[in-house]
Amino acid sequence: MKQRIREEILGMRREIPHSQRKEYSLSIFQRLIGLDLFKASHNIMAYVAFRNEVETLPVIRHCLLEGKRVLIPVSVPKTRELLLSELKDPERDLRPGTYGVPEPAPEFMRPFPKEDLDLILVPAVAYDEKGFRIGYGAGYYDRFLDGLTRVVPSIGLAFELQIIDRVPAEPTDRPVDYIVTENRLIDCRQRNMQCV
Ligand SMILES: Nc1ncnc2c1ncn2[C@@H]1O[C@H](COP(=O)(O)OP(=O)(O)O)[C@@H](O)[C@H]1O
Ligand SMILES: [Mg+2]
Repeated sequence: MKQRIREEILGMRREIPHSQRKEYSLSIFQRLIGLDLFKASHNIMAYVAFRNEVETLPVIRHCLLEGKRVLIPVSVPKTRELLLSELKDPERDLRPGTYGVPEPAPEFMRPFPKEDLDLILVPAVAYDEKGFRIGYGAGYYDRFLDGLTRVVPSIGLAFELQIIDRVPAEPTDRPVDYIVTENRLIDCRQRNMQCV
């Protein structure tokens, strides 16, 4: 079921023309940096977009200019864990890593404890409005969110076409707290409360 949705949404996401993806990503960036939660966060975990994900370089550059610290995920395929590395210069520090995802070159690995995060930006293939997520199928973010020893708010970034009615969530799936699309902010916690 998840696999079918994955393929369908990835296909649709690929069809968004490049210029439109840039425009949507900028709308998402503007909406994100306007949030009080974002403004108040100092240590921000941000993925570096690959394939056709919502672009995050504007967010990363904005954070660095504002003196916020940017922590990027580094995947460990053996354990399917994410480690954090502080990113200081996206032009210099990155090269294609596991799965082709941009990751820091070994000399630019700067380990960072996940307990010190203030905010986590989460990529996805698809989300529902409760914040449940379909990723690429390896469960990296589920494991990462599950392993936090402290509550850290999470914001999913997605194009509107990636929001689907219902993600067939499994017990290991961890929802995000908010989702920002080019059209709106979704408060997933509120939607979860309404259903209790
Ligand atoms: N916290 C966790 N501990 C152990 N296994 C997990 C955990 N979270 C997810 N998994 C496993 O990872 C695999 C992929 O998860 P899935 O949710 O399908 O992928 P994705 O979230 O990338 O779409 C599943 O077999 C799932 O049981
Ligand atoms: Mg999952």
